[in-house]
Order: sequence, then structure tokens, then C-alpha cells
Amino acid sequence: MKNIAILASGNGSNFAAIAQAIKTGRIYANLKILITDKETAYVHIRAKKHKITNLYINPNNYTTREDFDKEIVKVLKKEKIDLVILAGYMRILSPYFIRQFKNRIVNIHPAILPSFKGMHAIKDAFNYGVKITGVTIHYVDEKIDHGPIILQESLKINDKITLPELEKKVHKLEHKLYPQAIKLILNNKLRINKRKVIPAS
Ligand code: GRF
Repeated sequence: MKNIAILASGNGSNFAAIAQAIKTGRIYANLKILITDKETAYVHIRAKKHKITNLYINPNNYTTREDFDKEIVKVLKKEKIDLVILAGYMRILSPYFIRQFKNRIVNIHPAILPSFKGMHAIKDAFNYGVKITGVTIHYVDEKIDHGPIILQESLKINDKITLPELEKKVHKLEHKLYPQAIKLILNNKLRINKRKVIPAS
């Protein structure tokens, strides 16, 4: 069984969706640890509920991003983590971190990349007036919201929808899509060929 870790900074609804998918047998994995950079993040409460070890590491105790990441990498290696899952983790990973877990870090983005990169993707798409948005799951590389795309699914934005309603729809789709992507990776169903993620033959 593969070991996975989740890094999160906030609400943790994706954390909960993944933990639930493991619990119900949709994903076969050992969710060993949740790591957060925010002491008061709600995701801690979710981790307790799911009885998952949760660790807060205070970024203010480190002088550089790399020093902070070295501490996280140390923990991930100690726990023998195979796959690192970013789920609302509000920090940019250092090149050091990415090198240590090359092609073994994934992220979820609440828009159809490469459109609407950044922290306010749902709102940005809504305000732009696009008729379609969605969710992207991708590998993490050294550029922001950029690595090879694993799964994408779209949803329509109709004329009457409000921003809170759209947010709800996007999150619902996230909770479906992220476990699917994780399952494909853990079952060795995928191969990366430059920018393309293709079925493993
Ligand atoms: C999600 O919308 C995700 O796409 C983005 O941050 C949000 C995290 O939500 N990266 P949650 O903390 O999992 O509820």
C-alpha cells in the first residue's frame, strides 16, 4: 500500500473528500499525515475527526522558504511518503522540495488551466464572464499552476448563477475529481510524456 501525505492551509474540504475516499475503499492508500502551515486552519479539526496525524509547522521559525521546505521534506521522508497531495496549500514550493519529490506532487486548481491561474480562480473566471469553467488536477513543477495535467472537468456557468453558487459547484466537482486522479496515480495507470499525461501501457 502506498503512503500519501496531504498539505493544506485552510478549510480542508478536499482533505475530507480524500480521507473519505480512503475510508470507503475507493482509494487504496495509507493517509499517513496532514501537514499545515496554519495553526488555526479548520483542516486540523477534520484531521482529528478522521484520526489522521496532523502536524503544524510554523513557517516563521525558518529564515528561507527552502529551510522550511527542508523540514517538511524531512518529515515526508521519515514517513516514507510516495505521493504528496496539495489541497488548498497556500505556499509556493521551493525547487528543492520539487526535486526531492519529482513527479510525485499533485495539486488541484479550481479552474481550467492554463486559464485563471492564481489564488482567486473561481472569482476571476466568474468576473471575466466565461461560460465554462471547471477543475484541474495537475502534477506540480517549478512554475505556478503549470505542471502536466492529469484530469480536467468543465462545468457551465449559466446567466443566473451567483458567485457563491458557482463556488459550491466547483468544490463539489473537486471532491469528485481529486480522489479519481489520486486513484489513477496510485494504481500506476499514468505516465508522463513531457507535458502530456497519458495512460500507462
Ligand atoms: C480549492 O478550491 C482548491 O482548488 C484550491 O484551494 C481550495 C481549497 O479548498 N487550491 P479546501 O481547503 O480543500 O476546502
